Amino acid sequence: MKNKKLYIKTYGCQMNVYDSSRIKDLLTSLGCISTKIIEEADIIILNTCNVREKATEKVYSDLGRINKMFKKRKKTATVIVSGCVAQTEGKKIFQRAPWVNIVVGPQAYHTLPKLIGQLSYAKRHLTNLDLNQNEKFEELPKPSKPSTVSAFITIQEGCNKFCRYCTVPYTRGREFSRPLEEIYREAMHLVSKGAVEIFLLGQNVNAYRDLSSGNELVLVDLINKIATLDKVKRIRYMTSHPLDMSDALIDAHGSIDKLMPQLHLPVQSGSNKILKAMNRRHTSEHYLKIIDKLRQARTDICFSSDIIVGYPGETEKDFQDTLAILEEVRFAQVYSFKYSPRPNTPAAELSQLPEEIKTERLRQLQALTRKHQDEFNAMRLNKNLDVLITNKGKRPGQATGFSQYLQSVVIEDGAKHIGNIIQVKINKILSNTLKGEI
Ligand code: 5AD
Ligand code: SF4
Repeated sequence: MKNKKLYIKTYGCQMNVYDSSRIKDLLTSLGCISTKIIEEADIIILNTCNVREKATEKVYSDLGRINKMFKKRKKTATVIVSGCVAQTEGKKIFQRAPWVNIVVGPQAYHTLPKLIGQLSYAKRHLTNLDLNQNEKFEELPKPSKPSTVSAFITIQEGCNKFCRYCTVPYTRGREFSRPLEEIYREAMHLVSKGAVEIFLLGQNVNAYRDLSSGNELVLVDLINKIATLDKVKRIRYMTSHPLDMSDALIDAHGSIDKLMPQLHLPVQSGSNKILKAMNRRHTSEHYLKIIDKLRQARTDICFSSDIIVGYPGETEKDFQDTLAILEEVRFAQVYSFKYSPRPNTPAAELSQLPEEIKTERLRQLQALTRKHQDEFNAMRLNKNLDVLITNKGKRPGQATGFSQYLQSVVIEDGAKHIGNIIQVKINKILSNTLKGEI
């Protein structure tokens, strides 16, 4: 693999971003050179997502473009499809795009060097869709320097909840957690490379449970352990399910200073009928109770959420219940989506709402969540926020970073403070960014 040029495109969530960086570290440790220019690549990897909508079709259209590029430049490359589309589509990808060489699932990408080595004229199509738990983490090399002082660690993968709209239990497999010691070592390593913030990732992160030592260790134990690292100043975790928000985890928000006062806690709908139909296994009342307890534990905590509109069977009344829960919680940020049928999921079999209704409900919902987000940000005008400065800005001397509430902040003359947490006085509120000075 010496000197082979490697191009990786990532689709979807933070966990895929993490996987892409581990794939890159794996292949560059064997001699590949990373490139951002697809035309010069010898190995092209599309690390895909199929959680929503037409993501699968997007992958096929990108594959079509890659084939056209090959024809034009009369040189091919090894083409690899990894991630959740690979897991769902499997060998079908070779039928539609025979120029793809390897299809590898999200739990099997550590075998890429072996698969690439096995390719030959006679063996042009190889797959590995095994859902082996934790094997990949045991085999991967240590991660390289994180791209900013905020570093991600996947601590848990997969899901046993089986919400009826969701593809994750089928693409990432059943829930499993990495051993706490292994994660701690990864955190120490990232800190030694300059990380100041550790972002713990999992599809069901608060279901984290390590039984490998004989004792049950949960997310709070992991957070406490990482908090002992002096150089770690901030800890966050994402994405949580309301059912796994234990009292101990809620209390941790009041007692662990390094745990940031911001939590992503998807509610999906405000209607108990729809929550039941989705198999969410919580009610809107239960959700509000958790929010309330968290606010008692940490008065300034803020929340973000995911909402699906237009789930099969959602009436206008159900939709109004969703708007009502948004009014009640007043999220700092909401990611909202029109329901889209996903392969292999039970809700895909149900009769679907007309597209116009989904579009109109999404419009109304986004107008409301925009208003809440603007109000949340406006409260910060002329106030100080603690900003972890992570990146250089567009202009000389400028920098960007994140407040304790995960708001993006642009700071004039902040560039010399990258890696530090600085008090910034906010003097301007833009739609998705705040501006301020030190
Ligand atoms: N349609 C629309 N949105 C979905 N999500 C997951 N599956 C679907 C689907 N089939 C959303 C959920 C989830 C987020 C990652 O994506 O809100 O929390
Ligand atoms: Fe996409 Fe979900 Fe897979 Fe992440 S886990 S890549 S969001 S389908």
